[in-house]
Amino acid sequence: MNTSSAKPLDGQIALVTGASRGIGAEIAFQLAEKGAHIIAAARTQGGLEELDDRIQAIGGSATLLPIDLGKLDEVDKIGPSLAERFGKLDILVANAGMLGPLSPVTHIRPKEFENVMTLNFMSNVRLVRSVDPLMRTAPAARGVFLTSLLAQKPMAYWGPYCASKAALETFAQTYALETKETNMKINAVHPGIVDTKMLQGAFPGGFPGATKTPEQAATDIIPFCLPTCDKHGEIILL
Ligand SMILES: NC(=O)c1ccc[n+]([C@@H]2O[C@H](COP(=O)([O-])OP(=O)(O)OC[C@H]3O[C@@H](n4cnc5c(N)ncnc54)[C@H](OP(=O)(O)O)[C@@H]3O)[C@@H](O)[C@H]2O)c1
Repeated sequence: MNTSSAKPLDGQIALVTGASRGIGAEIAFQLAEKGAHIIAAARTQGGLEELDDRIQAIGGSATLLPIDLGKLDEVDKIGPSLAERFGKLDILVANAGMLGPLSPVTHIRPKEFENVMTLNFMSNVRLVRSVDPLMRTAPAARGVFLTSLLAQKPMAYWGPYCASKAALETFAQTYALETKETNMKINAVHPGIVDTKMLQGAFPGGFPGATKTPEQAATDIIPFCLPTCDKHGEIILL
């Protein structure tokens, strides 16, 4: 057997949500480069297939999971289906997110506010509930929740996004407290200001400052996905 090609995450299973583009696609690719089998979740089949092509081109492997994570009953099915196929989950990157309306909170329709809370917050609550037994089964599971600086420093007209990320951060910290006697490490990570479709949606004329590429953001986030990460319950601002 040729052991010289052994990779640090060989045999590990990584679920990355929002893997069809942006930061999530790059995290998935870089985890695959390190040898993890990727479960890539998002709605856009074409984006997932593009990622799959890139992963296959480097000799990696992925399972595509086309799913609308806003449909919470569908989210509940993820854990059981991963249990059947893989029996454990080593890495969870809860990255899928949406910006939602940028408007005064009093002008936002309840349903629009709810959609943002559902995807950015509740879908992660349901996802954790679904995959927690699989993470406990893994020898050193790592969970990374993509948050934003705006969770702690809200900005006018960004109400749904700020509130949903604040809820997500508190949830991640609570989950970390409840898993401190396990082998798991759970953290929330703000990736920095990253040039993606989401940022372009918020600043159609271009962000007035320095930005990172999704590749750079992913490289900065990967250490929190690895068994060597010893941080737990932290909010990391990159
Ligand atoms: N970019 C930044 O500067 C920045 C800063 C702070 C935090 N973040 C956070 O980083 C994460 C990634 O953001 P990004 O900038 O890479 O955004 P992005 O380019 O808009 O990507 C968002 C990802 O989430 C997926 N997604 C959206 N709605 C979904 C749904 N209903 N079901 C399943 N997947 C869904 C999208 O896939 P589909 O559309 O194919 O479903 C896409 O893969 C987000 O949580 C964001 O809040 C970003």
